This record gives sequence, structure tokens and C-alpha cells, in this order.
Amino acid sequence: MTPDKKTYGRLNLCAEMVRRGSRLADIGTDHGYLPISLCREEKIPSALACDINPLPLRSAQHNILKYNLSDRIRTRLSDGLLQVRPDEADDIVIAGMGGELIRDILTAAPWVRDRDKHLVLQPMTHHEDLIRWLYENGFVIDRQEAVKDADKYYTVLSAHYTGETRACDLYTAIVGKLALNQAESRAFLSRSLQNLRNKCKGDPSLLPTVQQLEEAIRETE
Ligand SMILES: C[S@@+](CC[C@H](N)C(=O)[O-])C[C@H]1O[C@@H](n2cnc3c(N)ncnc32)[C@H](O)[C@@H]1O
Repeated sequence: MTPDKKTYGRLNLCAEMVRRGSRLADIGTDHGYLPISLCREEKIPSALACDINPLPLRSAQHNILKYNLSDRIRTRLSDGLLQVRPDEADDIVIAGMGGELIRDILTAAPWVRDRDKHLVLQPMTHHEDLIRWLYENGFVIDRQEAVKDADKYYTVLSAHYTGETRACDLYTAIVGKLALNQAESRAFLSRSLQNLRNKCKGDPSLLPTVQQLEEAIRETE
């Protein structure tokens, strides 16, 4: 995605899952393209573009100025959500980070446990750890998709808090809400299956999950 020309499926899918009219907090904004693009297309009125590092934040500031959006998008140096107040954001995007880091960012901000807040999460790795944490901590996944972007497959999910916790086995954590009848989901899960097969060499207790996943992918091909 660039603010002018959307080319990247991964961030486009994140943008699609943001609720129209919401105030966005983009955590780990880097270049700021996501909030810039959403403001430019008038999907959202305003955004907070946050990053833990000053350099990416400067790049976001540069782009925000370039697109004349400094009255609608503010930048903020913040480790995760630590410098964001609950009344400042309705939708929170955390994209392009590992699933464990996203989980830690959410753990450190208990105010996201609010039925009115909406999370859009795009883990680059270990999505199963994030999904398990969401289920075990009272969140539901409203939607999850896989998308191809520059020859790789990624997953994006949207979630919100209900307070109803549920146990989550490894298979459920890996598959999440992905629809197995979609080719992108199967391609994404094939990579997870490969990782699991590798881990299984050192941990045979994973074999039933490997077989369950193989069967699920095969049945829907
Ligand atoms: C790979 S970039 C992702 C940029 C954009 N969100 C995307 O998906 O294309 C990751 C960004 O997250 C920032 N980051 C890493 N850890 C963070 C944290 N704990 N809080 C906020 N930002 C963080 C990095 O500085 C970097 O700019």
C-alpha cells in the first residue's frame, strides 16, 4: 500500500477490516501509509499513528505533511498502546509484527478489553499464539482471512472483547476462523503445516495435530 496507489494485499486487507467512521490507532505505523490511505479515502475521520521508534515516526510525519493530513493524523512515540488513552481510539490496528509481540502489546493495555473496541491484527509469525491468547482472554474473532502479498501468504483478523473465555487447542489456534474452502487460506495453512511438521520431529506429541491439519487441508482441496 502507498497512500496513492494501493498495491499491497496485506495492508489493504487490514484497511478493509477497519470500521468506517472509527478513530484509528495504528500501532507500529512505520511509514504511516495505513492511516493516510484511510483518511484520504474518507473511511475514517482521524487517526493516531504510533511507533516505538523515532525514525519511522519521522517518516510517518513526513508523509502526513506531504498529504496535508496533519490536522487529522497525529503521531505519537509509544511502546505499543502505553501512550494511547482509551478515549482516543475505537479501532486499533497492529500489523507487521510477530504474533507474540502483538499479544504482549495487548496484554499491557487492559483497556482493550472493552466490547466497543475493535482490533485488527496482522501477525507476521506465530499467529497461533496470538489466537490462543485472544480466545483464552475473552475475545472473539469476527473475521479472519488469508491474503497473498508479494508471493507470500499472510493472515489478518479482526476481533473484539466479549469476556467469554474459551480453551483453545493447537489445531483451533492454527486454523482460527480461516475458511478452508478458500485457496488463500489453504496456502497460508500449508506453511503452518510445514512448520508444525518440522517441530514434530523433535516433539512427537504434535503428530495428531499434524494429521488433523493435513486431513482438513486435503478434504477441502
Ligand atoms: C515491519 S513494520 C510494520 C509497519 C506497518 N504496520 C506494516 O504492517 O506495514 C513494524 C513497525 O513496528 C514498530 N514497532 C516494533 N515494536 C513496537 C512496539 N512495541 N510498539 C510500537 N511500535 C513498534 C517498528 O518500529 C516498525 O516501525
